[in-house]
Amino acid sequence: MKIISFANQKGGVGKTTSVVTLGEGLARHGFKTLLVDLDPQGHVGFSFGLEKQPGLYRLICAEEPLERVIINARPNLDILPSDKHTEKVKRQITIADFRETVLLDHLRQTTYDVILIDMAPSMDVLHINGLFASDWVIIPTRLDAMAVDGVREILFTMGEIARQGHAFEGYTILPTFFDRITRETLAQIKDLVEAFGARVWPPVPQDTRAREAAAYGKTLWEYAPHCRAITGYRENRQLLGGYAQVLERLIEVIA
Ligand SMILES: Nc1ncnc2c1ncn2[C@@H]1O[C@H](COP(=O)(O)OP(=O)(O)OP(=O)(O)O)[C@@H](O)[C@H]1O
Ligand SMILES: [Mg+2]
Repeated sequence: MKIISFANQKGGVGKTTSVVTLGEGLARHGFKTLLVDLDPQGHVGFSFGLEKQPGLYRLICAEEPLERVIINARPNLDILPSDKHTEKVKRQITIADFRETVLLDHLRQTTYDVILIDMAPSMDVLHINGLFASDWVIIPTRLDAMAVDGVREILFTMGEIARQGHAFEGYTILPTFFDRITRETLAQIKDLVEAFGARVWPPVPQDTRAREAAAYGKTLWEYAPHCRAITGYRENRQLLGGYAQVLERLIEVIA
């Protein structure tokens, strides 16, 4: 079993969209998948057309068993949902004894092939718990002048966690909202590749279909499987980037 978190302290960089799209993609490929929502905004369940629910709160604070608090969203795909009660979870974890591993302790006994964790755009005890539970971290980032800084912030936190004894297998940078037309975005991909080399994955194009799909409670595979965000953008007769390619990379990480 692999636990992979999607983290960036910056807001609106495509963390939730990536968790939802790649999670359902993995489920379609036969992987028994759990999506864990650590964000009180509760957008993971919402993206599947489900009501917000205090799943994380019931698991950690009310100590209900995981099977009782998850929701089955699609074939092979369960969700541990969040809502505003997740704020209380932070307080509970802060006063617990081994507070860095509270989440990991609940997840490690499960029978999923893969668990994807959606992080909130914040740095708090829940964020630390998410990273402590992770074998691998994917850092979605918009292509702007601060992209490299945002990635370095997460890597700094991962470094601290590694010093406390947690071994990460690796990490990856996922450029999002890619727009091939601007020279600026191309220059920014170059900056990322100069800083992080092959850890930079193919970019996900900007595509209004992504926003629409979430609003309709459907995943991109269901709502618009041939849209640019899935298939990538065309360059020299080749299709580059997009969630379809990213999913292939993710499956290599899991295998
Ligand atoms: N490739 C894309 N093209 C266009 N819009 C997108 C794309 N990916 C995500 N969006 C939209 O951008 C907004 C932010 O995306 P998302 O919620 O995935 O980011 P986030 O990093 O999870 O945000 P937060 O930090 O608030 O949790 C959403 O409205 C989403 O539908
Ligand atoms: Mg989000």
